[in-house]
Order: sequence, then C-alpha cells, then structure tokens
Amino acid sequence: MRKKVIAGNWKMNKVLSEANRFVDEVKEKVPNSEQVEAIVCAPFPFLASLVEKTKGSKLKIAAQNMHFENDGAFTGEVSPVMLKDLGVTHVVLGHSERREYFAETDETVNQKTHAAFQHGLTPIVCVGETLEQREANETMGLIETQVQKALQGLSEEQVANTIIAYEPIWAIGTGKTATSEQANEVCTHIRNVVRELTSEATAEQVIIQYGGSVKPANVDELLAQSDIDGALVGGASLEVDSFLQLVEAGA
Ligand code: G3P
Repeated sequence: MRKKVIAGNWKMNKVLSEANRFVDEVKEKVPNSEQVEAIVCAPFPFLASLVEKTKGSKLKIAAQNMHFENDGAFTGEVSPVMLKDLGVTHVVLGHSERREYFAETDETVNQKTHAAFQHGLTPIVCVGETLEQREANETMGLIETQVQKALQGLSEEQVANTIIAYEPIWAIGTGKTATSEQANEVCTHIRNVVRELTSEATAEQVIIQYGGSVKPANVDELLAQSDIDGALVGGASLEVDSFLQLVEAGA
C-alpha cells in the first residue's frame, strides 16, 4: 500500500510571521499516521525558520524550485546544497508556472531532478497539459514525454523515490477540477510510463499526486482513485483548517 502525500504549495504567498503561525499550528495537528505525509512547499525566505520549527514533527518543509548547480555565479538562484544544509527534505520541480514564466524546460527539470537526488532531496516533479493540448487530444503523449524526459538517466531506485505530480494547467487556480476519472486516467498513464522505463515493482512504488483546484470537498473522491497517491494543493493549502482537512483525508 502506497502512503498518501499531501503537499501544500503556497506559491508566492504569505509573509514570514504568517508562515510561522501556520506551521506552529499545523505541526501539532498533523495526524500521527504512517499512511500520510504532510509537506509545506514554502517560499525561500521562510525555509530556515519553518525547518527549525518543524524539527521533530511530522510536517516536512519543501522548496518550490532550485538551481541544478551547487554554487557559482548565478545571481538570484538557490542551490540544492543550500536547501539540504537548511534541512529541507523535498523540492518542487517543473511546476507549470515555472515552465510558463521562468523558461523551465524538460531538460532543466531533468538536471534539477538529478541534482536533487545528489543532495538527498526528494523531487516533486510536475507535469501537465494546457486546455488546448487536452482538446487536441495531446494529453497522453505530452505527459509521456514530460515524464520520460524528467526521469532520464535516473537509477531505478531514484525513479522509485521521485514524486510525480500531475497538474493539468487548465485546472490550476481556476476552480475547475479534473473529474476524478480524468485525473486518474492520466495518473494511471504516468504509472504505465514508469513501468515501461523501469519495472513493475518501481511503478507500484512511485507516488503520483494530482494537483489542480483540490479542496476539502473533492479530495476524498480524488484520493479514492486507484493511481492517485496524494495531492499538490495551491489555494486550499493556505488556510490551516483546509490544509489539515486535506491531510486528514489522506490518513
Ligand atoms: O501546485 C499546486 C497547484 O498548481 C494547484 O493550485 O490553487 O489550483 O490548488 P490550486
């Protein structure tokens, strides 16, 4: 049985005092269950404080991006070494907003995924299609390419430890959730792609999340699907109560 992984992606929201308050409250209430993992993906300036606050708790702290180089002349960037040194455990890579606004490509996502493993960080690799691509029936082919390219050159063990988040771009922040069947269909496809790249055992192990307007009202149905092992949540992760409800749904 795969555990459920619920990750709240705050994106560019909150200030430090709000982030600290959120984590102080949530860390006491995260269910003490092996069945669910709760992660907050916070902006860089909050990471050190949040990691410190969550030491010894079940709540994990993730970054929302990083560079693939360890150090050097990359003004404005943050390296995997820096994240690891802080105690961050996970990093979101290839979110569609980074692909769209910050020139992230399948190639850089692959470089970053390798870098994450080199430094003991668990990558949460995002893939997803636009509405135009869905309407043109390109979803499955596109997702296959994104997954193959992101995982290229990884060992089987690394693939097994990658979290893949399927986030249809048309469902992000729009209130339009993919139906649980639509979401599961693509997540099943992702598992099949992983199976072809590696093995049955690895495909069965890899965690595949759905993201796109997940909220307490729809999370149960999504998590009940055969190939959905968690959620990557934007808007509904910003409030303590709704984030906790999402985590409890996975427990
Ligand atoms: O990474 C989470 C995401 O993009 C979904 O955002 O606000 O639709 O839950 P939201």
